[in-house]
Amino acid sequence: MIKPSGGRVVAIASGKGGVGKTNIAVNVAVALARLGLRVGVLDADFGLGNVDVLLGLTPTLHLGHVLAGEKALHEIMLDGPCGIRVAPASSGIRELTALTAVHRGRLRDAVQQLRAELDFLVIDTASGISANVLESILLAERALIVTSLEPAAVVDAYAMTKVLTAMAPHLELGVVVNAVRSAEEGSLAYRQIEIASGRFLKRSLRYFGFIADDPAVREAVLGQRSIVEHLPQSPASRCFRVLASRLAGLGPTSGHSLDVSCPAGDAEEVSRCA
Ligand SMILES: Nc1ncnc2c1ncn2[C@@H]1O[C@H](COP(=O)(O)OP(=O)(O)O)[C@@H](O)[C@H]1O
Ligand SMILES: [Mg+2]
Repeated sequence: MIKPSGGRVVAIASGKGGVGKTNIAVNVAVALARLGLRVGVLDADFGLGNVDVLLGLTPTLHLGHVLAGEKALHEIMLDGPCGIRVAPASSGIRELTALTAVHRGRLRDAVQQLRAELDFLVIDTASGISANVLESILLAERALIVTSLEPAAVVDAYAMTKVLTAMAPHLELGVVVNAVRSAEEGSLAYRQIEIASGRFLKRSLRYFGFIADDPAVREAVLGQRSIVEHLPQSPASRCFRVLASRLAGLGPTSGHSLDVSCPAGDAEEVSRCA
């Protein structure tokens, strides 16, 4: 049985929208579950949550009910693929775009409860650096900052690093570069953020690696399935497994693999859902 090392509550953050956070949250969660771990995903994009949509789930209750004090956490949790537990967010509820102190307290309690029950909790967060977004990232022990290769995404990833460093200097920060066509592209984007961070924030960032640009990701999104179970041998699925292994403390600490296809995971893989 794998015992995960390091932070067990991981926030997936970015700055810029549309860089692949929700895809990474969902697929890394499924990949971690396939390693035999008990995993949950909490959708902290309260205004426009879509973890449930990506997994083809149709919740009737959501975290909004828990934050309002109307439902207990266990009443809103859904079962996702490979046994992952999903706390869905609301969609289109404007009240939750600005959380009150009471909401925040209930959210903290929900995260603590899930942390106690699970080996890993992945928190998918909204884009931007609003108070809501930052609050939900700070509930985690580490944050993976996702960027694409677009200069605006890289700049926003650095901006997020800067804000989080000022608010929580001890929060472990890592970088994931999404939708790359070569390992070099991933390393380059990471180094840009790492150099700025070292120079201006006096902190180093761990590179958690890259996710291949893979048309099968869009296919899986359209089919409302995680690509890790839908097409386990696709390049992106391999990358998600490598990332999951690193998060679980099973892989090498460096993400500087030279092969963009992300060859088989660092840990021995469990081929079926454990
Ligand atoms: N590695 C990838 N390869 C190809 N397309 C991707 C990849 N990652 C994400 N996408 C596309 O980008 C879209 C936005 O991703 P999403 O996870 O919703 O971003 P975010 O949560 O950061 O707003 C997805 O619907 C998918 O079509
Ligand atoms: Mg998202």
